Amino acid sequence: MDKQVDAYVWEAERIADAVPVPDYLERIYWWTYNRSWAVWVFDRQWVVNAILLTQYNRMRRAVLAALGEILPGRTLQISCAYGDLTPKLAMRVAKGGGILDLVDVLPIQLENARAKLPSGAPVRLINMNAEALALPADRYDRVMIYFLLHEVPKDVRAKVLKEAFRVLKPGGRLVMGEFSNPKWWNPFRYLWAVFLSIFEPFALDMWRTDIADMLPDAARGCRMDRNRYFGGLFQRTVVTKE
Ligand SMILES: C[S@@+](CC[C@H](N)C(=O)[O-])C[C@H]1O[C@@H](n2cnc3c(N)ncnc32)[C@H](O)[C@@H]1O
Repeated sequence: MDKQVDAYVWEAERIADAVPVPDYLERIYWWTYNRSWAVWVFDRQWVVNAILLTQYNRMRRAVLAALGEILPGRTLQISCAYGDLTPKLAMRVAKGGGILDLVDVLPIQLENARAKLPSGAPVRLINMNAEALALPADRYDRVMIYFLLHEVPKDVRAKVLKEAFRVLKPGGRLVMGEFSNPKWWNPFRYLWAVFLSIFEPFALDMWRTDIADMLPDAARGCRMDRNRYFGGLFQRTVVTKE
């Protein structure tokens, strides 16, 4: 199995564009992810915290708490995130003697993630599209997705969730930090809707559709725990595979 994954393990020496960049990523998010100046601008704790309306650290803590303090076995993070989420996750994985696989479709993002990790961190950087993970079923003890789902079109989101669930071991947890439908009294329900509709055209799906209804058939009937934050604008959702 690892031979199969090894083919996707990202190395700086490898020709950068081995995996095609999804159309939505280049068309809509080129200015946030796939340029070195964009990484330089956005990958600052205060910037990502401002983008998440001061809630980045809180959401990171919530997601990490759901994963656990000490993480043995195999952990999968689906897509890189700006800020200190991955280094903190990697520390917990190292404490447990586990391994963290970090998948992203953009080599520039994997390179950036590597620069944030201490040398010797037990992390494999894997250049892969999350819509079709070349990873075996029932492989990971836990899978984490942090603010990816709102950035992708509906059909891609369905594929990513199906894949995340497929590679999760029975008894394992899928932990997601995401946008959610804010309460009527939350001023961001009105202010943020305008921002999102301009800059993040798929994000309002997370308001309109319950994440439970986005999950694959295989997840139906599984335990789902949800916490909402910041007047309902954000959610942490944990699905435990049976
Ligand atoms: C996790 S999301 C958003 C994170 C959030 N805005 C933050 O930084 O806190 C952004 C990442 O998702 C990656 N990504 C987008 N679509 C992907 C896909 N289909 N497969 C793998 N990675 C993907 C992008 O390359 C980028 O690194």
